[in-house]
Amino acid sequence: MLHDPNHLYIFDTTLRDGEQVPGCQLTTPEKIDIARDLERLGVDVIEAGFPVSSPGDFQSVVELSKAVDNVIICALTRANKNDIAVAAEALQYAKRPRIHTGIGASDMHIKYKFNSTREEILARAVDAVKYAKSFVEDVEFYAEDAGRADVVFLAQMVEAVIAAGATVVNIPDTNGYCLPDQYGAKIKFLKENVRNIDQAIISAHCHNDLGLATANSIAAIQNGARQIECTINGIGERAGNTSLEEVAMIMKVHNEYMGGLTNNIDSRMFTELSRKVADMMNMPVQPNKAIVGKNAFAHSSGIHQDGFLKHRENYEIIKPEDVGLLEAGIILTARSGRHALKHHLERLGHQLDKEELASCYERFLVVADAKKEIQDTDLLALVSKTNA
Ligand code: KIV
Ligand code: ZN
Repeated sequence: MLHDPNHLYIFDTTLRDGEQVPGCQLTTPEKIDIARDLERLGVDVIEAGFPVSSPGDFQSVVELSKAVDNVIICALTRANKNDIAVAAEALQYAKRPRIHTGIGASDMHIKYKFNSTREEILARAVDAVKYAKSFVEDVEFYAEDAGRADVVFLAQMVEAVIAAGATVVNIPDTNGYCLPDQYGAKIKFLKENVRNIDQAIISAHCHNDLGLATANSIAAIQNGARQIECTINGIGERAGNTSLEEVAMIMKVHNEYMGGLTNNIDSRMFTELSRKVADMMNMPVQPNKAIVGKNAFAHSSGIHQDGFLKHRENYEIIKPEDVGLLEAGIILTARSGRHALKHHLERLGHQLDKEELASCYERFLVVADAKKEIQDTDLLALVSKTNA
């Protein structure tokens, strides 16, 4: 598979790694709805499910393959023939099918999960890729727990699966264990020591157990990864996966620093899609979540509000409209200053002179101390008293 080294491929696994979280299960029509949005969003790959895991998941991969035209549809398997054959069958209607197969790469997994040896695991990895290749051209291989794997053995495995036909090599930090410089160094080692590495795309799949999934993904890109596996709102196993919207906005804000890589993401869909996924999956977004949290564009302290109202970029590195929000929020609380109060009163059509504003502000502070947040109805009541 030819790939563009200047493009960052976005692999969305909301419907696989995200959907396997307890309580997040979706019906097939709901998955189709989200998949169509992901296609409009501009992702390159949708991981549609793990077909062998249940008849429902199998059917979802079949239906998503029919519903989506322009995006690669990927199905997960373990490194065994039955999983791979079932995935291939589920992908039969996909216009651009990909099988994602793999096996543990760390000594921990080799010993305690597979009760096996490095040699045997290597042979199974190669056989799985060759078998997947007999069904589809595009085969991604994951080296599970690569974050804790010995890097020399990992390099050997990556070289062997690329020689067997893997088009993408996924280096998952399955347990969210690595620090950004450690994960980045691992990717760099593969880039420099795997002889056939340029024949495949290196993919980063990071978990957020230490809150480092996005930072690790960025370190991976800086060291040569060209595919990022991520989910809407960062949902996923345990503490979640890398958040798609965080990576996309980092690549936009720091585009030049990150090497000018391209991607097809339309970030203006983020707010709406984030809310849809949160509602459908019963997984509310924390208010202070970067990019899509309720407070991500809400300025609340007096100093910030004043500086923001003087010049937005004093406190705004992303335009709210770039993520689909109509405007930044100036939240009125007891920490707000006169400038913020004036801004909201004018928004509601009330121009107060200096004295009126001063008296209104004094009464505003009393109300604001008693309430967590001031609403428009509170402001209108304050103005009517000012004018009385
Ligand atoms: O976290 C992980 O290692 C995975 C693989 C199955 C790709 O989700
Ligand atoms: Zn994962």
